[in-house]
Amino acid sequence: MTPSDVKATLSFSDGSPSMELPLYKGSIGPDVIDIRKLYAQTGKFTYDPGFLSTASCNSTITYIDGDKGELLYRGYPIEQLATQCDFLETCYLLLKGELPNAEQRTDFTKLVTNHTMVNEQMQFFLRGFRRDAHPMAVMTGLVGALSAFYHDSTDITNPQHREISAIRLIAKMPTLVAMAYKYGIGQPFIYPKNSLSYSANFMRMMFATPCEEYEPDDVLVRAIDRIFILHADHEQNASTSTVRLCGSSGTNPFAAIAAGVACLWGPAHGGANEAALNMLKDIQRQGGVEKIGEFIKQVKDKNSNVKLMGFGHRVYKNYDPRAKLMRETCHEVLQATGLHDDPLFKLAMALEKIALEDDYFVSRKLYPNVDFYSGIVQSALGIPVSLFTAIFALARTVGWIAQLNEMIGDPEYKIGRPRQLFVGSVARNVKPIGER
Ligand code: CMC
Repeated sequence: MTPSDVKATLSFSDGSPSMELPLYKGSIGPDVIDIRKLYAQTGKFTYDPGFLSTASCNSTITYIDGDKGELLYRGYPIEQLATQCDFLETCYLLLKGELPNAEQRTDFTKLVTNHTMVNEQMQFFLRGFRRDAHPMAVMTGLVGALSAFYHDSTDITNPQHREISAIRLIAKMPTLVAMAYKYGIGQPFIYPKNSLSYSANFMRMMFATPCEEYEPDDVLVRAIDRIFILHADHEQNASTSTVRLCGSSGTNPFAAIAAGVACLWGPAHGGANEAALNMLKDIQRQGGVEKIGEFIKQVKDKNSNVKLMGFGHRVYKNYDPRAKLMRETCHEVLQATGLHDDPLFKLAMALEKIALEDDYFVSRKLYPNVDFYSGIVQSALGIPVSLFTAIFALARTVGWIAQLNEMIGDPEYKIGRPRQLFVGSVARNVKPIGER
């Protein structure tokens, strides 16, 4: 971290001694005020629920400029990565800090590909779930269970264990997601086929059956690969912070990633694409484009609790750059699948247009986020709505691992342990039961 010449001074109106706080400069983005000595020197904590003004770590991985609508992985704009690289190159970049050259790309692809199969016992574990279990419930269980299957890579303090668990997680997530899907629909599991690319292999495990081969279509494979790239990392979001916090106790990488999967499930985070598509379907059922006005009215009514899903973001106060790329992919996929007249897509476009012109959304800087279009793309690919968040988890795994490994490698890393402002009862005595 680069110290700044500027110092912040904290003073108190009650005459308590003031305190000078150091500032650190990032390579881009806001500076931070270092409050680590605040409690020791003043006996006070800072208060920031939801971390609106708190940098929880320093990081070299992903940078977001929410006002500009800019997303960089290791300095590279998401637009360039999404159009010039594939997902495994992006994984290499996130994990190692640089894009691979041709030889490194081949070696890395080979390494990941060698680990696509999961221990055969995993399927017996999976079979313990109800067939109608939500895939995210299944994924939370399966990813957590990996630590019971791969004992030789569970020591988070050992760099080799971290490396091999990273490769295993990236390689096995598509297999696990496809298994969760097949289990839910009562079809046999399809083993990975290592002659295919990462994304083509995933599509085949999803859609082939023992009776019928699946021929991967280039446009569709490229679309799922782009979904993976766009979701690969996103700075210190809720699930990534969960992974860091969980991993900070020294737990094994599989357990930390399982915690990330659990956090991602929430509708305000990874569950939003599912919620966005369900919202579009609801509006469609109620009458489609003509009902948009009525729906927007409900969204604006504070008492209705209705949100325009796929709109708004904690960090982006501009068009989410991932949403632009996803919108483009949406056109390509609908064209390739002959669904270009898809009423849901038309509805989404109309809803987006109306919302972008409405003062409620404009004044709050609410723009479409990646989830607004990703549900339509995934639907067109044949992926059921209930699996959307699992696909997000598959893609985000590499980001979680890169962030976890960065934390473990940071000499300043400590177990995460926030404090609180206590507003409950002061100390009191337990009364005998008859007197309560
Ligand atoms: N529809 C209607 N109003 C909204 C929406 C929305 N989607 N999002 C925010 N607002 C309003 C909110 O009611 C508040 O209004 P007011 O100032 O009058 O009280 C104002 O905008 C600020 O919102 P906020 O809740 O303080 O913003 P936040 O940063 O805490 O929440 C968010 C961000 C993503 C949770 C929220 O925008 C939301 O719930 N969006 C819908 C769910 C969604 O699409 N989530 C996916 C996020 S992108 C995927 C990912 O990166 O995980």
